[in-house]
Amino acid sequence: MKILFIGDIVGEVGRRMLSEHLKSLQNEYSIDLTIVNGENAAHGKGITPKIYDSFKSLGVDVITLGNHAFSKNIIKEYMEKFDDLVRPCNMEPLEYGRGFVTCHINNLDIMIINICGKAFMDNILIDPFEATDEILENNSADIIFVDFHGEATAEKRCYFEYYKDRIQCVVGTHTHVQTADEMISNGSCFISDVGMCGAINSILGRDIEEVISRTIYQQKTYFTPAKGPGMLCGVVIDIDEITKKVQKIERIQIKETLN
Ligand code: FE2
Repeated sequence: MKILFIGDIVGEVGRRMLSEHLKSLQNEYSIDLTIVNGENAAHGKGITPKIYDSFKSLGVDVITLGNHAFSKNIIKEYMEKFDDLVRPCNMEPLEYGRGFVTCHINNLDIMIINICGKAFMDNILIDPFEATDEILENNSADIIFVDFHGEATAEKRCYFEYYKDRIQCVVGTHTHVQTADEMISNGSCFISDVGMCGAINSILGRDIEEVISRTIYQQKTYFTPAKGPGMLCGVVIDIDEITKKVQKIERIQIKETLN
């Protein structure tokens, strides 16, 4: 079982990078399941129904979100309808959509959970450990994959160490910077952050001048997604379908040439 996971897709550049590279990555690695984090896909914040549809038609199986899950109000009414859209299971508002989905691939049930860390994050109603325990209580999936959307590397690693006997894949998102700490332990894999899919010449995918004027001069800005050459970051995870143990986790990074 090969899972391709691509990190936070930021704005137009991120969407372009996905559409230009997804098919070749799926072919190169013989991917069975493709998951992307789409929480920054619509102009840097949130996702729209149109973008959800476009990701599905590119060949994405499941789209996870994060703290910007509801930044585009229109998505709320589509949350129930979109079977393959997963919102953080522990963040308010809780009444829309689902915090996990289960896919049936190669005769295996794969559960995909989206969860937010509580360190330095807003609107987190339920502790991530409590929320996970509740989901796992009545779970019979063969493989469990968690997109842990959070700021703190230590919180993510702690989550992995606590659940590594029960969850095969804990992959971090949200910081937009790919970390080099991918590892396998007890047949489960971890990486603090898979990195983003967006403009290289940027601050986490946002326009550099806008971030400077906000950070240093406290000016009101929109954190507009930056333009120009793009990068795509993700991981490919290989799981033995008999033992259900992770055999390999490989970081992916595609970068266009900077002008
Ligand atoms: Fe985020």
